[in-house]
Amino acid sequence: MIKLLVGFLVMVMNLLYKTRPYPRFYVLETVARVPYFAYLSVLHLYESIGLWRKADWLKVHFAESWNELHHLLIMESLGGNNSWIDRLLARTTALVYYWIIVAIYLISPKSAYHFMELVEEHAYHTYDEFLTEYAEQLKAEAPPQIAIQYYRDGDLYLFDEFQTSRVPESRRPTIETLYDVFIAIRDDESEHVKTMVACQSTNATTTIHSPHTAVFDPSQATTTNVPSKV
Ligand SMILES: [Fe+2]
Ligand SMILES: [Fe+2]
Repeated sequence: MIKLLVGFLVMVMNLLYKTRPYPRFYVLETVARVPYFAYLSVLHLYESIGLWRKADWLKVHFAESWNELHHLLIMESLGGNNSWIDRLLARTTALVYYWIIVAIYLISPKSAYHFMELVEEHAYHTYDEFLTEYAEQLKAEAPPQIAIQYYRDGDLYLFDEFQTSRVPESRRPTIETLYDVFIAIRDDESEHVKTMVACQSTNATTTIHSPHTAVFDPSQATTTNVPSKV
C-alpha cells in the first residue's frame, strides 16, 4: 500500500509535469511537507493525552518540515506556483495525503516513516536528474535571496536539526549560483532519507535525538552524531 501511494504520486507527477520542472518541484515540495505535519499532529496528540513524550522527535520533524518549507519558498521564488491549477492540485493532494499519513502513523509509525523514506528518495533522484540535464543553465543563474538566507546567511540552527546522522555545523552548502541551490536541496533530500531510516530502527525511541541535543548532552548521542571534540 505504501509503494502504491508513492507510485501513484510519482505517476501523476511524471504525466503532468514532464516539461515543467519548477511547477513539478512546487507540487512535490507542497506534498513533501505534509507527512511531517502528520507526524507532528499525532505526536502532539500523544503528548496531550499523556501517552508518550519525546520532545526531540517533535524538534526533528519540525526541522524537517522547516527545511521542506524552504524548498517550497525557493520553488515559489522561481515561479513554480504561478498557475492556479498547479496550486489547486498541490493543495488538494496535500490535504488528502495529510489524512492518509495521520491514519497510517496512528496504526504503524514504521510504515509512515517508510512512506516518507520512499518519497524523499524519489525527490533526491528527481533533483539529481534535473541537475545533470540543466547544469549549464543553472550555473549561469543567480541564487534566490531566500536560498542565500536559509543556507548561508541566516540562522542555521534548524538547518542542522533535521540531519540526525550529522554533527551540527558539519554541513554548510556553498551558495553562489542556482546550481548550488539545487545541489543543496538534493543533498537535503538525502539527509531526510537517512533520518527516516533512523526513525524506523527497532530502538529508535531511545536513539533518535536532535543533533544539538546530542552535542550538549553526549549521553543522548548515537555513535554517528558524537563530535570528536565537544
Ligand atoms: Fe524537499
Ligand atoms: Fe524532501
